[in-house]
Amino acid sequence: MADLDVTVVGELNLDLILYGLPEQLDPERELLAERLALTLGSSSAIFAHNLAVLGSRVGFISRIGDDPLGRIALERLAEGGVDVSRVRRVSGATTTGLTVILPRPRFRNILTYPGTMFEMCFEDLDLKYLTSARHFHLSSFFLHRALRPRIPELFRRMKEARLTTSLDTNDDPEDRWGEDLNEVLQYVDVFLPNEREARKIARTEDLREAVRLLAERVRVLVVKLGPLGALARRGKEEVTAAPLAVEAVDPVGAGDSFDAGFLHQFVRGADLSTCLAYGNLAGALSTTCPGGTEAFRDRGHFLRFFRERWKA
Ligand SMILES: Nc1ncnc2c1ncn2[C@@H]1O[C@H](COP(=O)(O)OP(=O)(O)OP(=O)(O)O)[C@@H](O)[C@H]1O
Ligand SMILES: [Mg+2]
Repeated sequence: MADLDVTVVGELNLDLILYGLPEQLDPERELLAERLALTLGSSSAIFAHNLAVLGSRVGFISRIGDDPLGRIALERLAEGGVDVSRVRRVSGATTTGLTVILPRPRFRNILTYPGTMFEMCFEDLDLKYLTSARHFHLSSFFLHRALRPRIPELFRRMKEARLTTSLDTNDDPEDRWGEDLNEVLQYVDVFLPNEREARKIARTEDLREAVRLLAERVRVLVVKLGPLGALARRGKEEVTAAPLAVEAVDPVGAGDSFDAGFLHQFVRGADLSTCLAYGNLAGALSTTCPGGTEAFRDRGHFLRFFRERWKA
């Protein structure tokens, strides 16, 4: 069994980004893009990839289809240093998902085919493998349709096996923020919503109130504030991190990169402000390149950024 720091259960797919399309997409016309990028997408995979690049030993479980897109996504994740030996490749009518992103000057269109991410189920998970790590993480709570009824049980099992745990729900596409999430939170050590998600889950418009309510329910609450930085709270202790000045070109994956930075330090036993500062740094780095993993894949860029900005 691999000697792992963190195991992750999540979705794995690619982002296809087409740049320079006209603002209006006329039917029946051949519309030409200026540039194309195919990059590792999906919150969970971006998180796992960047956590491994930071130097944690990461194992990833997912269900993908037996198709070329799934193979490329798997390759990309493995290239980052993630152990993908437990990813299940299932042939059938449902293929690996794909997100097509069309960035335009004033807005983006984001088109997603969820594919196998809606079908991953409890039986796809190797629990012995998951509990072989010190820490367990799950992202994109609302996208795991088939797994969702058993996510509380999954977290409970991880706690019974004495792992620490973390959760980043990301957005709920249905905007319902279901009651089952409350059941999961009792087994979560580090909860990492962004500001909007924190308010939605706490069912209040007021961020301070949301922080107060959520901090009572998890050991460590971390709230990501986009270009305003982030805050973390453990009991009555609260620390904040001001945003780093960067030339941000793409916010995609900043939240997942932040999670990777924070948890990389957390599993090493660092104090709260060190975890937060490291997350803030990783989130800022992510925004400097398109997509969620490119800034980490470019080793020169990644090493320079941390050397210049991280004062341990
Ligand atoms: N423009 C920026 N400048 C500096 N740091 C940034 C910027 N945008 C994001 N960050 C860093 O990245 C972190 C995460 O970003 P954000 O709040 O957008 O997360 P998120 O909404 O969960 O993102 P995601 O879309 O990846 O789920 C921020 O808390 C901050 O530390
Ligand atoms: Mg997020």
